[in-house]
Amino acid sequence: MVARSPARKSKKLTARTADRHVLYQKSVQAPADDAQFYTRRFKKYTGRDLRVFREDFCGTAVLSCHHVLQHPDNIAIGVDLDQPTLDWGIEHNVNKLLNAEQKTRLKLLNKNVLDVRAPKCDAINALNFSYSVFKKRRDLGAYIKNAFRSLKPGGVFFMDAWGGPDVLQEKTDRVRHKGFVYEWEQRVYDPISHEITCAIHFEFPDGTRMHNAFVYDWRLWTLAEIRELFEDAGFEDVHVLWEGTDHDTGEGNGVFRRRTRGDSDEAWISIVVGRRPE
Ligand SMILES: C[S@@+](CC[C@H](N)C(=O)[O-])C[C@H]1O[C@@H](n2cnc3c(N)ncnc32)[C@H](O)[C@@H]1O
Repeated sequence: MVARSPARKSKKLTARTADRHVLYQKSVQAPADDAQFYTRRFKKYTGRDLRVFREDFCGTAVLSCHHVLQHPDNIAIGVDLDQPTLDWGIEHNVNKLLNAEQKTRLKLLNKNVLDVRAPKCDAINALNFSYSVFKKRRDLGAYIKNAFRSLKPGGVFFMDAWGGPDVLQEKTDRVRHKGFVYEWEQRVYDPISHEITCAIHFEFPDGTRMHNAFVYDWRLWTLAEIRELFEDAGFEDVHVLWEGTDHDTGEGNGVFRRRTRGDSDEAWISIVVGRRPE
């Protein structure tokens, strides 16, 4: 029998050894691509460079780190209520991705997104539907107004949204990744309140599971409601970037175009955009 060196031992992930934030980032985030996407979109839309960027609901702040990496003059502000999540981001993202100078251009604020208004930003992002924690119209409206007041004149607010008949189904989708399976559960949907509970679970090759790695207690907001709240807050040129479809797979193709009418897709993701007047 040939002895295997420790270095060659396979390190299969299990529920005990895996880190839920690592798996989350691998499953649902593409921070380098997203940082580039928003930089280009901002430039194309405003003609200016996106320098001061705020990532609301930043979680582990990986997108903020990539914004800092994009350009030596870029500044990022990440805002999140949960200090342990920010701490994880500092250890695993900030300390690994950024050098000492780059770290001076990143500020992480352990605050409620409703309470942060400075410094004034060129753009603010609220991604992965995190604003859905606001279940009352007045609360989501207050958040959007606060974002408006946090922008420089001509600044841009980007908020993603999801919908389609598929998201109303109580079901679990599974996506295989290297070393684990990502599960997205749409657990409960109530048509009266439009409240929805979703959860992320992970499953490993040895059969162990990380159940309820993340649980979301949300309201599912429609694009019409979000657009109206943008307009109520004072944003101008409020519009939707609609994702195109990959005709081979039937899935989204990552190409977002400004559209005035969407398609009646089973499931869709889009981005609502509003500009603070000059
Ligand atoms: C779904 S995660 C989003 C992580 C990351 N932004 C992304 O795109 O994947 C939602 C985050 O929002 C934070 N959060 C929820 N309510 C908040 C609030 N009112 N103010 C600041 N952060 C909040 C949570 O602590 C959590 O880290």
